[in-house]
Amino acid sequence: MEMKEIYRIAKERFKGVCRVCPVCNGRACAGEMPGIGGIGTGSSFMANFDSLARIKLNLRTIHGASDPDIAYDFWGRRLQMPIFVAPLAGMAINLGNAMDEGEYLAAMVAGGKEAGSLTFTCDGPNPMFFDLGLEVVRKHQGWGVPTIKPRQQEAFLSLVKRAEDCGVMAIASDIDAAGIIHMRRAGQPAGPWPFQVWEKTISQTKLPIILKGIMTVQDAQLAVLAGAAGIVVSNHGGRVLDHTPGTAAVLPEIAAAVKGKIKIFVDGGVRSGTDVLKMLALGAEAVLVGRPMAVVAVGGGPEGVSLLLNQYAEQLRTAML
Ligand SMILES: Cc1cc2nc3c(=O)[nH]c(=O)nc-3n(C[C@H](O)[C@H](O)[C@H](O)COP(=O)(O)O)c2cc1C
Repeated sequence: MEMKEIYRIAKERFKGVCRVCPVCNGRACAGEMPGIGGIGTGSSFMANFDSLARIKLNLRTIHGASDPDIAYDFWGRRLQMPIFVAPLAGMAINLGNAMDEGEYLAAMVAGGKEAGSLTFTCDGPNPMFFDLGLEVVRKHQGWGVPTIKPRQQEAFLSLVKRAEDCGVMAIASDIDAAGIIHMRRAGQPAGPWPFQVWEKTISQTKLPIILKGIMTVQDAQLAVLAGAAGIVVSNHGGRVLDHTPGTAAVLPEIAAAVKGKIKIFVDGGVRSGTDVLKMLALGAEAVLVGRPMAVVAVGGGPEGVSLLLNQYAEQLRTAML
């Protein structure tokens, strides 16, 4: 399938919920939540894109590094690239029912695995979100990372147990989801949890725990102390709080404080392999990509996801050369 065709189909299926803009920068969909945009003025989504656009890469042309190695070791599993598919769900709530939720999750997980990457799956107000994601990850021999909202501790741990039984690669928690409106509306408030609760909870599983939604040095240091194995520097794609800085703007100080003590991942506004290189240069080990992956999953299924991941991987190699 051609990328052009994939985008054409996606645009048709989204029926305006996502415009499939030539540049996915949060401007056309600002404030569209539920929807695919950023919350409020949309400034936090835009800040992600803009903070990355402000970073420039310069040329180094006299060197002998002719065969860049972009493989990544994810707690013992070898991935073909340091680029992952972000957790992004809610076809009915956010994405205009462009696709059946189960088929969509299957496309995200299968496409990620096919490209030698991996996919984070979701949790949400309806248990179906977690269940469907876990089911596809199980079908792919645990090749994925379920994301669990910081719900009540017992509920959280029971989902951890189910994920463990599926042999998943790690578990993430989108701890920035504490203010997310869908959970509260459904009577299932999530988080925030104090440090001691994280420390105790993390100690109950052998799986690596990744805290997603870290934007400050203080929280990154607390994640290290609590025993988390990784963090995702993220503002949830600008969907939880208006007027935050962009992730590329805060990443360097976070990396300076905790690099080597914890794995540092980042997301927000990554739109090419060149953007991936910028994030790696700013201190991340790997990146997650959100909206662009949802678009190609809707337009091209697993093939769309795999094609886009491979396109970013090729751009990353080219930029490194
Ligand atoms: C429609 C939509 C739904 C999302 N749902 C979740 C979610 O359930 N859990 C989560 O951790 N992040 C969720 N995110 C955030 C993404 O995982 C990711 O942090 C963000 O989209 C990255 O920014 P990007 O889209 O600019 O690449 C969602 C984002 C969007 C746009």
